[in-house]
Amino acid sequence: MKTLWHHCHAATLVDGRYAIIEDAAIITHAGLIEWIGPRAQLPVGPCERQVDLQGAWVTPGLIDCHTHAVFGGTRSGEFEQRLQGVGYAEIAAQGGGIASTVRATRAASEEALYASALPRVQALLRDGVTTLEIKSGYGLDLASERKMLRVARRLGEQLPVTVRTTCLAAHAVPPEFAGRSDDYITHVCEVMLAPLVEEGLVDAVDAFCEHLAFSPAQVERVLIKARALGVPVKLHAEQLSSLHGSSLAARYQALSADHLEFMTEQDAIAMAAAGTVAVLLPGAFYFLRETQRPPVDALRRHGVRIALASDLNPGTSPGLSLRLMMNMGCTLFRLTPEEALAGVTLNAAKALGMGDSHGSLQAGKVADFIAWQIERPADLAYWLGGDLPKRVVRHGLETAI
Ligand code: NIG
Ligand code: FE
Repeated sequence: MKTLWHHCHAATLVDGRYAIIEDAAIITHAGLIEWIGPRAQLPVGPCERQVDLQGAWVTPGLIDCHTHAVFGGTRSGEFEQRLQGVGYAEIAAQGGGIASTVRATRAASEEALYASALPRVQALLRDGVTTLEIKSGYGLDLASERKMLRVARRLGEQLPVTVRTTCLAAHAVPPEFAGRSDDYITHVCEVMLAPLVEEGLVDAVDAFCEHLAFSPAQVERVLIKARALGVPVKLHAEQLSSLHGSSLAARYQALSADHLEFMTEQDAIAMAAAGTVAVLLPGAFYFLRETQRPPVDALRRHGVRIALASDLNPGTSPGLSLRLMMNMGCTLFRLTPEEALAGVTLNAAKALGMGDSHGSLQAGKVADFIAWQIERPADLAYWLGGDLPKRVVRHGLETAI
């Protein structure tokens, strides 16, 4: 149905700027934006339906481009330990950390994993998220990774959100491969990736490049395999130390390199040349009480696109609000509210390889947008989370969330 949405202002995010249209009008048709512009220039012609947005600000639907939303158990006990001074790496070395979530995830049925992820994903949707990436990485064997990815797909089928799945089998060394990390990487490359890709469960492949996970050489084997299977790659890089994983990711035309607190200027140059998006995760920075900030000025200087995501996970970022991450991106990393909004719309779309169809309000793109009852676009980064009054439009239809 051709619909005219009017009595609104739009922050279109074309080119990653606010690109504001005051007194805007939007025509949607067959799930796409057919026209957007100033109401005064509205093309003549009939629309079957007209919707008065009552002065709202319209932005693209928010995109959370880095989550681990599917997992068993929680790690609030480790949170208490860390507050008593025990380090994240120390907890991991004692068999806690990612390994404890792996135990809980392996033990959970697909049904139980779905049920536990559901309220977390619903919280993100209530915050204005219309596209969501979900990683595996707490299964670490073929059956358990498959289970996680199937749950992620099902969330996308049953909720009003577009889900992109990422296989993060190279997240940690599972107990059955203890002390044999090279063998586990071989297992990931030779046994796990191909069937998961063939089953249509993998939109991208990710790995954790870090001292307490996998070396650049090991990660590179995963990236090579993924590319050979025709799947785009991403990387957790420079979160706790500088291994130049982000430069490595750029060599494989990664969609994104994520975290990046310890990246260097050279890494930024490599990412800019490859068009690899920098996904910053202020929730993990905050929750681990890190002090080294990602080099935002170097990213800006070299023209690397910056995205922001929740990193929703039980260990380092139990974050259920993408708008809270926008605020943290501004307060902790000194992004502007405009950069924060670009970080959860156009740049997040690019981090998922969806930049041509999502992330900005432009004719021809998917009609996913939010009409917020706010005074100015900066209000989205200003409030510390909370439920802002809004109307959600997905594929051109107003959607209850
Ligand atoms: O993005 N950095 C690695 N992976 C997750 C944390 C995983 C965990 O501790 O469970 C992250 O921060
Ligand atoms: Fe992560």
